[in-house]
Amino acid sequence: MPEHTAQDPLKFAYWVPNVSGGLVTSTIEQRTDWSYEFNVEVAQLAEKVGFEYALSQVRYTASYGADQQHESTSLSLALLTQTEKLKVIAAIHPGLWHPAVLAKFIITADHISGGRAAVNVVSGWFKDEFTGLGEAWLEHDERYRRSEEFIRVLRGLWTSAQDGGGGFTHLGDFYRIHDFTLRPAPVDVPGRAHPEIFQGGNSTAARRNGGTVADWYFSNGKDFDGFTEQYLEVNQNAALAGRATPPKFGLNGFVVARDSEDEAHAVLEEIIAKANPEAVEGFRQAVRQAGASSGDGKGMWADSTTRDLVQYNDGFRTGLIGTPEQVATRIVEYKKLGVDLFLLGFLHYLEDIAYFGEKVLPIVRELEADAVRAGELAPAR
Ligand SMILES: Cc1cc2nc3c(=O)[nH]c(=O)nc-3n(C[C@H](O)[C@H](O)[C@H](O)COP(=O)(O)O)c2cc1C
Repeated sequence: MPEHTAQDPLKFAYWVPNVSGGLVTSTIEQRTDWSYEFNVEVAQLAEKVGFEYALSQVRYTASYGADQQHESTSLSLALLTQTEKLKVIAAIHPGLWHPAVLAKFIITADHISGGRAAVNVVSGWFKDEFTGLGEAWLEHDERYRRSEEFIRVLRGLWTSAQDGGGGFTHLGDFYRIHDFTLRPAPVDVPGRAHPEIFQGGNSTAARRNGGTVADWYFSNGKDFDGFTEQYLEVNQNAALAGRATPPKFGLNGFVVARDSEDEAHAVLEEIIAKANPEAVEGFRQAVRQAGASSGDGKGMWADSTTRDLVQYNDGFRTGLIGTPEQVATRIVEYKKLGVDLFLLGFLHYLEDIAYFGEKVLPIVRELEADAVRAGELAPAR
């Protein structure tokens, strides 16, 4: 696999709005729909204007402003069939999937899409979803130990299928695989060892898994320091694990780009002023099951304010609010700190993605080229 370099153009992903209520828990008017038909339109537009990835969300039941949801793997596959270049990342929970069943599903999706399937392994915060289904809710770090094994099994099954060698065996605490082979192998895509494995989670355990086993580490919305802190720790974990290629980094951000700075900030303030307080408070209580419940209390949402939680992945914290020039400049500043991919959410998906592609992305590309010329981007990590 070619070495990734910071001089590669930044990649962009968008959050698939497959959960009702949009990406903000607010009663502000949102012209974003969660339906399949709307999502096809968004996906086709996004790939046309320069988005390389889409990330679906996994949610099984009504909760915190999201009354309806489409299942992530099936919707992701459907979007793959309706697009030509877009890579679609399906979010999944270890604990609700067997890794070999998922590995097989993704291989089929990969063949149907010509090598564009990917997964986001999420360890979960929504206890009621597990207990309501009669599944055990493991303690926080145990969930991450299971996720680590899950990723090792996915990768093992995918790579042993390619080798054409013997079957894959894994005898762990959570999964036992006995000399098993999946045929066909995933599609052989240059620059990709197998379908990419993203990991969403920011606690100490998540940083360990990100460093040791994931291809990509996804961060919740963060300011510069908050991102850098994770970047250093995850890379340190990768070095300790002896990984030749450390994971790449994706950062969440909610974009409000408008012709004037005042207009953009007015939209943000209206979103917050019209927040749904009960739903935000319910969510705040529920996400205490995330990193806040771990031994050191660190992790996603551990220090989020009510204002932050109106975008349920802390997307306002990244500060992508302003004119196209301001948003693009901030994006490239993050790139200098090590961000490889931006995972973006929007208020009015169709209008805002079109605006982003037309007005913000060209400036990002110019600023990136300037930064490379000025030697501000490290040649390789
Ligand atoms: C980019 C990203 C996407 C996520 N998507 C989902 C999701 O679709 N469904 C879900 O239940 N949790 C999702 N999560 C949350 C994780 O399951 C986990 O609870 C959260 O990252 C807390 O991690 P921590 O305990 O390591 O801090 C996502 C997290 C990130 C960073």
